[in-house]
Amino acid sequence: MVVGESGGADAFFSKYEALASSLPARQGLGFTPYREYHGFWYPELLMAPTLAARDTFAARPTDVILATVPKSGTTWLKALVYGVVHRGHHALAGGEHHPLLASSPHELVPFLHELYERHRSAPPVPVLDGMPSPRLLAVHTPFAALPASVPGSGCRVVYLCRDPKDTFVSLRHFLDEIKPEGSDTTPFAEAFELFCAGVSPFGPIWDHMAGYWKESVARPGEVMFLRYEHLKEDTVGTVRRLAEFLGCPFTDEEVVGGVPEAVVALCSLDRMRSVEANRDGVHRTGRLSIKNRAFFRKGEVGDWKAHITPEMAQKLDSIVEEKLRGSGLSIAGE
Ligand code: A3P
Repeated sequence: MVVGESGGADAFFSKYEALASSLPARQGLGFTPYREYHGFWYPELLMAPTLAARDTFAARPTDVILATVPKSGTTWLKALVYGVVHRGHHALAGGEHHPLLASSPHELVPFLHELYERHRSAPPVPVLDGMPSPRLLAVHTPFAALPASVPGSGCRVVYLCRDPKDTFVSLRHFLDEIKPEGSDTTPFAEAFELFCAGVSPFGPIWDHMAGYWKESVARPGEVMFLRYEHLKEDTVGTVRRLAEFLGCPFTDEEVVGGVPEAVVALCSLDRMRSVEANRDGVHRTGRLSIKNRAFFRKGEVGDWKAHITPEMAQKLDSIVEEKLRGSGLSIAGE
């Protein structure tokens, strides 16, 4: 089902599909075409729901929005934030009944665009209204295209980014893993050139980072900017900062009791990978079914070294450095 008749069951959504299909299109990395909207390349399937959310989502001051470029550690961030925010309700250590041990982080912290694509006849207001506060929601949307109600609502935005070289390598593996039967993966060298040209999911990646970076500098109480590399290096420290930012700092008693460490252990790659829902479950998004295990691979910093040449690395680093010059953000070459 794609475009419904005007006034039909899909009338709400079909307006956005029509708008999406009027935007410039080109083939990018992977198997779906991309649409260009205000300087960013969106996977075509996510364009209409993103536009629908932009126009109609009503943010609450208590909302927590997690924002990433795909393959920057979204799944990990979802798990950590869920673990932090709901730590009072569930036993973290020893117990086997924590929701993170029964469901994928993608079920517990839904993508906003997925809620919109599942409810095509009208905005998913009943679903969103029915979510208890604080609502945890995720987006890949560039800052400038976030729902108009988000900036100024007082809600918290947590942005996580990653060395673009590792993001590219992770993306390439992911696309290969999830490609529909019979379709081909973009050849490696071509995929790399497209990534360097910015034609990647929600790319250019450097503009995506710069948008959130700028906001985090302007409004540090509302937008927190994190890096995957720092999260790996000091997960417990970052999780404690995250809890403070979200308005639910760990108490001295919790710190002494090792609660931050317990959240981190619960969300570790090995622990998450061993959960049945993450190992054998399937994530349904739009017309795609993605095996949850595709979200858990190596989780290493610098895995790019095994896949891209020093020349390619230098090329991407130079582009990122050049594009971020003057922004105060430095990512390349670290
Ligand atoms: P690699 O492909 O480099 O291993 P996303 O969640 O945005 O799709 O990102 C997926 C990347 O995050 C993958 O990177 C994946 O292995 C890594 N990842 C998933 N869960 C993680 C965890 N609990 N800890 C660290 N990295 C994790």
